[in-house]
Amino acid sequence: MHASEAGFRHLETAPIDPPGSLLWNPLTAGRDMLRDPLGRLAADWRAYGDVVRLRIGPIAYYGLSHPDHLQHVLQENNRNYVKGPIIARTRILIGDGLFTSEGDFWRRQRRLAQPAFHRQRIGGFGATMTDTAGEMLDAWSGAAATGEAFDLAAEMNRLTLRIVGRTLFSLDLQESAAAVGRALTDALDIVTQRFFTLLPLPLWVPTSPNRRFVRARRALDEAVLRIVGERRGAGRQHGDLLAMLLEARDPDSGEGMTDRQLRDEVMTFVLAGHETTAVALAWTWYLLGRHPEVEQRLRDEVADAVGRRTPTPADLPALRYVRMVVDETLRLYPPVWAFGRQAVADDRIGPFRIRAGAPVNLAVWLTHRHPDFWPDAERFDPERFAPDRAATRHRFAYLPFSGGPRLCIGNEFALLELVLVVTMMAQRYRIAPVDPDRVIEPLVRVTLRPQGGVPVRIRHA
Ligand code: HEM
Repeated sequence: MHASEAGFRHLETAPIDPPGSLLWNPLTAGRDMLRDPLGRLAADWRAYGDVVRLRIGPIAYYGLSHPDHLQHVLQENNRNYVKGPIIARTRILIGDGLFTSEGDFWRRQRRLAQPAFHRQRIGGFGATMTDTAGEMLDAWSGAAATGEAFDLAAEMNRLTLRIVGRTLFSLDLQESAAAVGRALTDALDIVTQRFFTLLPLPLWVPTSPNRRFVRARRALDEAVLRIVGERRGAGRQHGDLLAMLLEARDPDSGEGMTDRQLRDEVMTFVLAGHETTAVALAWTWYLLGRHPEVEQRLRDEVADAVGRRTPTPADLPALRYVRMVVDETLRLYPPVWAFGRQAVADDRIGPFRIRAGAPVNLAVWLTHRHPDFWPDAERFDPERFAPDRAATRHRFAYLPFSGGPRLCIGNEFALLELVLVVTMMAQRYRIAPVDPDRVIEPLVRVTLRPQGGVPVRIRHA
């Protein structure tokens, strides 16, 4: 029986506050959360169950992880939930772009961007994805010859940044990739710290993190404005996302987007579109490195399905096991590990009251490990995503791309990229961890990064 069915029996009784703990000291509470957010989520779930109410000083927030409850918030009653104050903290970086905006403004921007993500158009990106991956793999031949170790995670970041630049903005971000990568790491570190700080100081207060953030944001702004400026000046037709954003007109006023809006959307797509996919690739190879039998099966499938030729989107149905490996990686290490929301009006989840105005944390990290849906959840087992097993599972038990109207707009883009890139890497190289016994912990930032990177050695396959 699902928890919400159980909940119906309570509908006649007055709702009660969910169980949870009270963290009196707001200053240390934030620090404790930051130290081990995933451990904290798991401990609260073990102690209190599927609906948790955590109070930090005067603020109460709710933690949800059961698929029924995620479905309720993200889909069935989505109009009662906005992204809210925690997500608003990312505005210092991505402004009012698609990820953070709300209401009619969000709907309009989503409609504008959607055509760039239609399946057919995404398919057209396949060649750019494989060309860019091919260039990276060519550049690896030196490391394959010498056996020199390198960090796969950093390489994946550069690759996905270039792919986003080329597909969505028809621009090569290779030159800026290193500088953008550093600025991004700095900026995201500080945004994460602010997530877990009760009352973050305004950016004009010249603390060391604030100054680092402002410097990083300036570097990112420069890169983004260069993208917009080059294209406004170029006057050439590109059928990409940026062209759609540049050509968009408000149906009432006939006005185009301001530079500020463009900057926010471009920054959103650069960030949302590359960091997530990069960490997914890094985790995939980390897991393959620890499961040689899975890797061998993947290599066999790649050899059968495409041999040595460059894969295309048309090969995806034949690369089913590669996709299962990717799906299972996104289960164990969902790059976006929790989604923040805020209840607009009072709501009810089973017997529990969700109070208006409270932040609600949808902990997909826990959902993907919920024992009612994922037996032996910590085990890496791509067979969970064999089509017959996946078809009978609760639709909201697996949500790496969220669900409901705020579903990731780039999900098909990301899955295509992941399958094509993993396939090409397997075709060209054998990839071995430098230290096969090292367990890599997730570093919790806005995404889940492999802590210390994924050091590997490669040789030609
Ligand atoms: C493995 C890769 C990816 C993962 C795991 C991922 C995950 C997510 C999740 C969970 C959300 C919703 C968050 C929420 O409900 O609060 C989201 C939204 C979004 N994603 Fe992705 N994403 C990925 C790749 C991409 C790519 C490649 C793009 C663009 C090219 C992209 C663009 C966006 C945008 C613009 C939004 C906001 C959509 C809206 O609210 O309308 N993402 N993503």
